[in-house]
Amino acid sequence: MRHVADLLAYRDRFPILEHTTYLINHSLGAMPAAAEERLAEYAHAWKTRGIRAWGEGWWTMPMTVGDQVGRIVGAPPGSTVMHQNVAIAEAIVLSCFRPIGSRDRVVYERANFPSVRYLYQAQPDLEVVVCEDDGAILEALDERTLLVPISHVLFRTGEIQDVAAITRRAHEVGAHVILDAYQSAGVVPLDVTALGVDFAVGGSVKWLCGGPGAGWLYVRPDLADRLEPTLVGWQAHARPFAFEPELEYAEGAARFLTGTPNVPALYAATAGYDVIEEIGVDTIRASSLDHTDLLISLFDAAGFDVSSPRDHRRRGGTVTVRVPEFEAVHKELAERQILCDFRPESGLRLGPHFFTTSDELRFAAAQISEIVVSGIYEQHLGATARF
Ligand SMILES: Cc1ncc(COP(=O)(O)O)c(C=O)c1O
Repeated sequence: MRHVADLLAYRDRFPILEHTTYLINHSLGAMPAAAEERLAEYAHAWKTRGIRAWGEGWWTMPMTVGDQVGRIVGAPPGSTVMHQNVAIAEAIVLSCFRPIGSRDRVVYERANFPSVRYLYQAQPDLEVVVCEDDGAILEALDERTLLVPISHVLFRTGEIQDVAAITRRAHEVGAHVILDAYQSAGVVPLDVTALGVDFAVGGSVKWLCGGPGAGWLYVRPDLADRLEPTLVGWQAHARPFAFEPELEYAEGAARFLTGTPNVPALYAATAGYDVIEEIGVDTIRASSLDHTDLLISLFDAAGFDVSSPRDHRRRGGTVTVRVPEFEAVHKELAERQILCDFRPESGLRLGPHFFTTSDELRFAAAQISEIVVSGIYEQHLGATARF
């Protein structure tokens, strides 16, 4: 574990910091230079070891890499497996459940990420109850609830949700909690074991700096052997290489696997996890709170409307700020090599990480003020950007 003061020493491991002000780690975390080396290792193994590479680590990567994510999110070895993304991880969880009598409700919050919302909305035999906030979820939970898919940190506002209270109540009424920790893993301390959630999902694109294609799924160990996912593939078999005609589930989290794993993505992702593990999420959190405090104070001084929580207990790693014509302001910022994003109805989102300097934050806030006050953003009005 490192101290906050030491973190700037990590900057040279992230090449993009040399020529951009990189404040978009809530969307695509900066790439560690080591990811390129890992991808070269992957290509080298493929080139020189060929088919033997499967037996030399490729086949078990969804489990071994999952264990590394597990160390970051408080999951014991053997309880976390890798998938392509949250949508597929959550669909595998869903495939274990059927409505039983009047227990056919999915209770979730309107602010959940679309991958999660769309999946449950698309189920004809489930009733979706949409709540306005985490307090409303607590009130909506009852014996009719089957599943409670919630976010640890909301993607639009960066607000931390009361996962512990929801999990306690869900368990009282016999429901299962699926925690989407995409916006917390790697920046907000998370202990899935202490929280007692039944499942947790996330990906590596954001704060874990691991790139796309490396989603993860945690299953509470005492639950894993009792569940039978119906979205399944040959990696979930107890003896995959026997190619038996009938399915016999593997033990533990392995039964939540599907088919051939996304090997290159898993190679790349470990470079990000290594740095996060080396620094420690508690240290990253301390630096994140310093950064977001500073950003909020700069935006307050400029008279902008900050919608991210002020309370540290509720604040994730992102600061969302509403400035006039934020879409056009975002475009101008990109031209000045200041990378952030925006979400409709919310405003600009800025996600500093452990390698960000206070000077970069002061620079970005000053540039935003200048762009707004000068009206230079007007040249971009009507332009559309997707990221
Ligand atoms: C909270 C949250 N969940 C999920 C996702 C992504 O879902 P998927 O992995 O299905 O693309 C994101 C962002 O991309 C997110 O912010």
